[in-house]
Amino acid sequence: MKGKIALVTGGMGGIGTSICQYLAKENALVIATYHHRENRDAALAWQTAQKNLGYDIQTCHVDVCDFSSCTDMVVSLEKIYGRIDILVNNAGITRDIPFHKMEVSQWNDVLRTNLDSVFNVTRNVINGMIKNNYGRIINISSINAQKGQYGQTNYTAAKAGMHGFTKSIAQEVAKNGITVNTISPGYIETNMVMSLSTSILNKIIEQIPVKRLGQPEEIARAVTFLAAEKSSFITGSNLVINGGQYLL
Ligand code: CAA
Ligand code: NAP
Repeated sequence: MKGKIALVTGGMGGIGTSICQYLAKENALVIATYHHRENRDAALAWQTAQKNLGYDIQTCHVDVCDFSSCTDMVVSLEKIYGRIDILVNNAGITRDIPFHKMEVSQWNDVLRTNLDSVFNVTRNVINGMIKNNYGRIINISSINAQKGQYGQTNYTAAKAGMHGFTKSIAQEVAKNGITVNTISPGYIETNMVMSLSTSILNKIIEQIPVKRLGQPEEIARAVTFLAAEKSSFITGSNLVINGGQYLL
């Protein structure tokens, strides 16, 4: 991937960090986004920590819920790096609660961060990719989009929406050398999952045939595979990585 420019939203989170490292190992020039402007120092500390591990990763700010923030980011990245070749729509949140108790804000926050974000970032990146006749877009969905999950009507609606988006845009931009795919991770050992109570977590692990949580690296290496130039015949697909917990 030498010479390729890769943008990873939520690139400093659990799965995002691993995706950045794997793309960097493949010699892509990687840009990880951070969410809150006031966290610039934390972002720089993350960047230094990555550098100490041998990964040279660039950083930039974006709020993926805000279309104009995404426009500002893409305009500035295209000015600095010339183009974006690889986009990983990875930023996401949960606000789990049974539907009958769900507040409008819990619905809106999750839909905006997990689904509107995919429009906001991709819409700003796509014309550059079309112009360059090249692109790799990877959307991070979830096992729960497919199986449903008690307490996650908001999250599963958003993550399922990604599949329709992926299949439609994949058809539109196939002629432009751009592939668009979705990865559906199962339960992966990051803060998002580790903040569940121990009893809930133990019940979940019992339901996973491999009897353990997934590791961020197990998602990152699949991202790298789909992001490769040679993966040009894979588009509109969904890659399931869930330890056998839910099989279609
Ligand atoms: N199926 C059926 N009933 C369930 C259930 C389930 N899976 N989970 C909970 N319930 C029932 C309970 O048995 C209980 O019933 P009673 O009132 O009759 O006793 C009722 O729901 C309330 O359960 P809780 O005490 O747990 O209620 P709560 O309000 O404290 O929490 C919850 C509800 C937030 C949904 C909590 O159960 C929870 O966090 N569940 C896990 C949700 C989950 O898996 N989230 C994934 C997060 S990680 C992620 O999203 C990444 C990814 O993509 C995989
Ligand atoms: P994480 O560690 O919480 O990372 C999520 C990242 O998204 C954080 O860096 C977060 O930044 C960023 N983010 C949130 N809101 C944002 C916004 N409005 N603008 C820009 N960035 C924002 O969680 P993770 O487990 O690595 O999850 C990464 C992706 O994988 C998510 O889309 C998640 O839904 C998906 N996924 C996770 C699992 C799992 O089991 N862990 C399973 C399936 C799918 P801040 O922390 O600064 O807000």
